[in-house]
Amino acid sequence: MTCFLNKNMNINIITAKTAGFCFGVKRAVSEAEKLAEAGGGYTLGQLIHNPFVIKDLENKGVYAVDSLDEIKENKPVIIRSHGVAQRVYDELIRQNIDYIDATCPKVVKIHKIVEEESGKGANVLIAGDPSHPEVKGIVGHCLTKAAVVNSAEDIENLAKNEASFVQNPLIFLSQTTGKLSKWIEYKKIVKKHCTNLKIFDTICRATTCRQNEAEELASNCDLMIVVGGRKSSNTAKLAEICQKHCKTFFAESAEELSADEIMAVLSDRVSKKQVRDINIGITAGASTPYGKIKEVHRYMSEITKNDEMDIDFMAEVDKTFKRVYIGNRVKAYVVAVNNTEAIVDIGTKHSGYIPADELTATPGTLPKDAVKPGDEIECVVTSINDQDGIVYLSKKRVDAAAGLEKLAEACTSNTTVTGVVTNVVKGGVIVSCEGTRVFVPASHTGISRGRRGEQPENPEELAKKLEALLKKEVKLKIIEVSEGRGKVVGSIRNAAKEESDALKEKFWSEIEVGKRYVGEVKSMESYGVFVDLGGVDGMVHSSELTWNRIKHPKEVVSVGDKLEVYVKSYDPEKKRVSLGAKNPDDNPWTKFLAEFAVDDVVKVQIVSITPFGAFAQIIPGVDGLIHISQISLDRVTNVAQYLTVGQVVEAKITEIDQEKNRVSLSIKELLEEQAADSDENDPEEADEETVSEEE
Ligand code: F3S
Repeated sequence: MTCFLNKNMNINIITAKTAGFCFGVKRAVSEAEKLAEAGGGYTLGQLIHNPFVIKDLENKGVYAVDSLDEIKENKPVIIRSHGVAQRVYDELIRQNIDYIDATCPKVVKIHKIVEEESGKGANVLIAGDPSHPEVKGIVGHCLTKAAVVNSAEDIENLAKNEASFVQNPLIFLSQTTGKLSKWIEYKKIVKKHCTNLKIFDTICRATTCRQNEAEELASNCDLMIVVGGRKSSNTAKLAEICQKHCKTFFAESAEELSADEIMAVLSDRVSKKQVRDINIGITAGASTPYGKIKEVHRYMSEITKNDEMDIDFMAEVDKTFKRVYIGNRVKAYVVAVNNTEAIVDIGTKHSGYIPADELTATPGTLPKDAVKPGDEIECVVTSINDQDGIVYLSKKRVDAAAGLEKLAEACTSNTTVTGVVTNVVKGGVIVSCEGTRVFVPASHTGISRGRRGEQPENPEELAKKLEALLKKEVKLKIIEVSEGRGKVVGSIRNAAKEESDALKEKFWSEIEVGKRYVGEVKSMESYGVFVDLGGVDGMVHSSELTWNRIKHPKEVVSVGDKLEVYVKSYDPEKKRVSLGAKNPDDNPWTKFLAEFAVDDVVKVQIVSITPFGAFAQIIPGVDGLIHISQISLDRVTNVAQYLTVGQVVEAKITEIDQEKNRVSLSIKELLEEQAADSDENDPEEADEETVSEEE
């Protein structure tokens, strides 16, 4: 090896910040490490495209198998981050094989897209390598026709030979590790041929970030080293990108690098450029372990005799593993959400996980209902596994701490807060409020009390009433906060009382005679009903409920009915309101006076019998009295001997008292008139009279 570099030259070795495991790979490797610790098992296909990681796992008892038939022992199998076809899941279930699904959440998302869209009848077009396991897995989730294209030519051929395929509704998406520039080109061509097209940009951000950084780095370097497995498609794409800008070596490890070849390239650059600065870039695929990147970095430092060059990268790597401690509060960016956890980026090379029960204080909340990809949240570190680069975090605890402060403030200022009842516990309920658990004693829940103000004596009845509050949103006052113990006590009753007092105050300040309200009938007595006017109850006497004669209010209203009422009178001192519910337009007296007058003969129906006479209905709402002396030409001593309830008789209106709304009727007068008329018309009687006059 000819060393032409001298100490006056600046040799920079720059490692891409994004080099190394992506979170999907970290997650899969972490699952495999856990499986190794638990006694070993299998991975369906090589976990990642890196021979060193595969070898290491084998040494720990986790073996790669190509098919389920190769599984010899009853041990779990890991589905790698690439994902698998639906039929593989079916087969795992059929064969009763335990499995750990380490499919990258971004790949799971693609499976869902193709299942949903193909379920609606769309064909599926995938840009990617048809032999790549991820692509095979995606195809295996399509319910209609699927095609894979890996070049512009493939797309043109497909459009030419399979016209019906591209003319049908079509979705177009990419393998997650696809090359961005090619994807942009493919989209343009597909758009040209398809009219009914939906495009899903599914290239993973981890991939695009690596590709963009590799492109930028390579364009500023004299030499690039791309570290990673030969079978890794994303690593191969990085090499392809770098190759366009400078001489690039693709190596699985430092051992594959040749110092002579490297020196030859650098020497050539120095002589051509006539410069003192040489830049060497290192990047790595998403499946390359940090150890391998570090090794290459060290090797490059050694052969270029640049002792200082390790510093940046080493510090970067070390810093990322040291920067977080248990108890640290960190900002996290939500990358993906699945049914059991949220996966977050905390700005280091760790993979961050927030288990479902650490996301929110409300039990049973699905992670997708608590956070969504793209959210930036604050969390606290609960455990760290530096070796695997995994950090577990809790959002719930940060929320609870912030919530505790807010609740302490609400307690001091007597502010009402809102929460959701999440549990029934001994002696009360738990309300989740501002991410904090607030205990509300049964006596403060506001559930109805016994007659003497106690809670229902029967514990079962109490439990039932408390259960009824579950999942309800409630307003409450905070009555005690013990920040040291994190204990908070609240009162739903106090908040309800404050609200009701405010309503009452407003009511009394606005009430006036004649004011109309619509209220709910809260209770009923034989003499009338009580109507809730909004915090204050008013009474409608039975006689004020309807113009008709009723025996009981239940004949016209029921508890719970809405009733339109107006204020007849009120007493703020005694807190009494007297209401009317009769509509003046329906007043039967108005109608009666318009249609009837004294001396009119009317057909009436007897509605009641009394010792002094009988009441008879003239029209609904207007009754007249036939006094006992006006029932017959005879002397009547017992009304019931002459009249019965329900009987219809003719009577004459003899008096109308408009002030007292009273009508007097007489059958007797009618009978007298009729008798007089018949005398006049009877000739015998007339003759007799004449005779007698003559006599
Ligand atoms: Fe997943 Fe993207 Fe890595 S799809 S496996 S995070 S490259």
